[in-house]
Amino acid sequence: MATSSSSTAPQRWSSRWLFVLAAAGSAVGLGNIWKFPYIAGENGGGAFVLIYLVCIAAVGIPIMVSEVLMGRQGRSSPIHTMRKLAKQAGRSQRWSILGWMGVLAGFLILSYYAVIAGWAVSYIWASGSGTFDGASAQMVGATFDEFLASPMELIAYQTGFMILTIWIVGRGVTKGLEAAIRWFMPLLFLLLIALLVYSFNSGGFDQGFAFMFDMKWQAVTADSWLIAMGQAFFTLSLGMGTMMAYGSYVPDDANLGSTVFTIAALDTVIAIAAGLAIFPIVFANGLEVAQGPGLTFVTLPLAFGQMPLGNVFGALFFSLLSFAAITSAISLTEPALAFLVEEYNAKRQRVAISLGVICWALGLGTVFSFNIWSDVTFIGGLTFFDTVDYFSQNILLPLGGMLITFFAVWLLPKGMLDSQLGIQSTGISWAWRVVAGIIAPLGVLAVFTSTIWPLLSGLW
Ligand code: PHE
Repeated sequence: MATSSSSTAPQRWSSRWLFVLAAAGSAVGLGNIWKFPYIAGENGGGAFVLIYLVCIAAVGIPIMVSEVLMGRQGRSSPIHTMRKLAKQAGRSQRWSILGWMGVLAGFLILSYYAVIAGWAVSYIWASGSGTFDGASAQMVGATFDEFLASPMELIAYQTGFMILTIWIVGRGVTKGLEAAIRWFMPLLFLLLIALLVYSFNSGGFDQGFAFMFDMKWQAVTADSWLIAMGQAFFTLSLGMGTMMAYGSYVPDDANLGSTVFTIAALDTVIAIAAGLAIFPIVFANGLEVAQGPGLTFVTLPLAFGQMPLGNVFGALFFSLLSFAAITSAISLTEPALAFLVEEYNAKRQRVAISLGVICWALGLGTVFSFNIWSDVTFIGGLTFFDTVDYFSQNILLPLGGMLITFFAVWLLPKGMLDSQLGIQSTGISWAWRVVAGIIAPLGVLAVFTSTIWPLLSGLW
């Protein structure tokens, strides 16, 4: 008899390594390849990299451990996990609001993530077919502007990307998520290595290396700390329950501390490697590192266009970006998807399609922000896309992350925490409480207040 086994059978990653790959797949995304290199470039290169590493270690890792351990303890979607854990800890059921915030953040982020990932996919063809071969800076800039000005084209790629995402997640943890990860992650590593070799031989490697690692402290501002912390959250997929949802499928015997450390290390190495693949190519062609997001879609195609085999490696670069994006996109749906499947005992596929349609519709706002709605602005003069991005990344994620680690460290029964983490010594238990329970939430609080303060003061 055909029962909806997907909704009743407990789902688990096939091994600890698959969890590491899946979580790294979620973490490594547009944040690492598109965003990290240009923000590092704008904020003092090596000095920023150092600040970023501090944020990953002092805030990112403790929050990720908290999320994964709560997920494994609750063994259900973030909303249900929060309900269960709050009950076990004798706390208010209102803590489940954390799960709801994550669901909302997932929707918002995926809605624009699919649009930008669509750009990457479209640039695979554009580069591969030689559009940029020998093109001038003006031509490459105009190609991107024309692309952004055409809603139909953007929608076509956004739709394609969403369909693929929904198809994968609808197939479930083992047949969908794991199957995609088994393919895409090794491909991503191979592509990155190929691009590193290419950039190493481009003639600009020393300059690119210096750009990433020279300590330009004069370019570091107070803002750089905020940017580094925000980036640490986004890049590690923290604060919205993704890691909690993925954590609920982690086998009982996996050691959480070392597992999380491996995931964070992989994510960081890949972000730095992406920078080392990009900058030398830019410098080898005598180009300036463009300020902002144009680095990927304008400067880089221009640089590839000047180089031997540039069309092949350009296409490989945008494939890398697309693979990184899809393994993150699938993780963005998991908190909402798992919740609906549990709550209504519904079929994963059906739920996935409904979520996909809503997210796709929301994404149209982002598409239009680049053309027909480019003049429509909200609080602080932000476009629809900027507003969604700001609200999810600067408000929902830090707030969620801060409350999650606070809950994990101070409200969960101490024995539960220590046994999940395999902590036996009182010293380590206390050290963990200080780092995860005090330093991490306070660090986030500092960032959080300083990001929303200008926004609030702008309101009156
Ligand atoms: N970590 C992803 C990236 O760097 C984005 C992401 C955020 C994915 C939150 C899931 C949850 O692109």
